Amino acid sequence: MMELRGTRCVVRRWRKGDAEALVRQADNLSVARHLRDRFPHPYTPADAKAFLSSVGANGHVPENLAIDVDGQAAGGVGFSRGHDVERFSAEVGYWLGEQYWGRGVATEALLLVTGWLFERHNLLRLFALPFADNLASARVLEKAGYTREALLRSSCVKYGVPRDQLLYARVNAGWEGVRRADFPQADRLTHG
Ligand SMILES: CC(C)(COP(=O)(O)OP(=O)(O)OC[C@H]1O[C@@H](n2cnc3c(N)ncnc32)[C@H](O)[C@@H]1OP(=O)(O)O)[C@@H](O)C(=O)NCCC(=O)NCCS
Repeated sequence: MMELRGTRCVVRRWRKGDAEALVRQADNLSVARHLRDRFPHPYTPADAKAFLSSVGANGHVPENLAIDVDGQAAGGVGFSRGHDVERFSAEVGYWLGEQYWGRGVATEALLLVTGWLFERHNLLRLFALPFADNLASARVLEKAGYTREALLRSSCVKYGVPRDQLLYARVNAGWEGVRRADFPQADRLTHG
């Protein structure tokens, strides 16, 4: 069972029974306005059902996880892995229901997921792209050891308005390198 335990929260797989809590926390413009458009607003029970069916119960490494506080789904944290030469990088994202803000929960959840992706999944680099005016999220990233690398001007459009984004990243100092199974071209390169 995949579960990352902290002192403020537990990061775990989503469950079908999270639907009600998910709607309660996610149906909030103060949350949605900082996220990608694929995060719906308003957030309906049908949205929750579709999301919980899409994330799957078992099997492959889950890319979307629940942040659980006191046994209730309080928010979400996830990652999206790159491809080809970027396959050791992933974008991370997170959100938390407003009633839980300001207690260090998102920072702890991000630290737990960062450690898990670096140590268990051997990722080399994690990055995030908060809107430039999302000071709370920038602070979460700094507290979780991410470094601001860039300001990306007019790099996205949210609710019809061009927005700047910040690029934050953390590099895995303990990266184990490319294993042979991850590098099928190795033979071709060494044999000319
Ligand atoms: C961003 C978010 C995840 C933060 O969650 P959280 O659990 O409250 O975060 P933490 O308590 O771990 O840390 C928040 C930090 O931001 C600071 N902060 C909050 N609002 C701030 C503001 N307007 N300006 C500057 N700093 C601010 C807090 O003081 C705290 O820093 P501190 O510990 O140094 O005092 C939460 O507000 C949220 O879900 N927002 C909507 C969705 C979102 O923005 N997701 C991220 C998209 S990139």
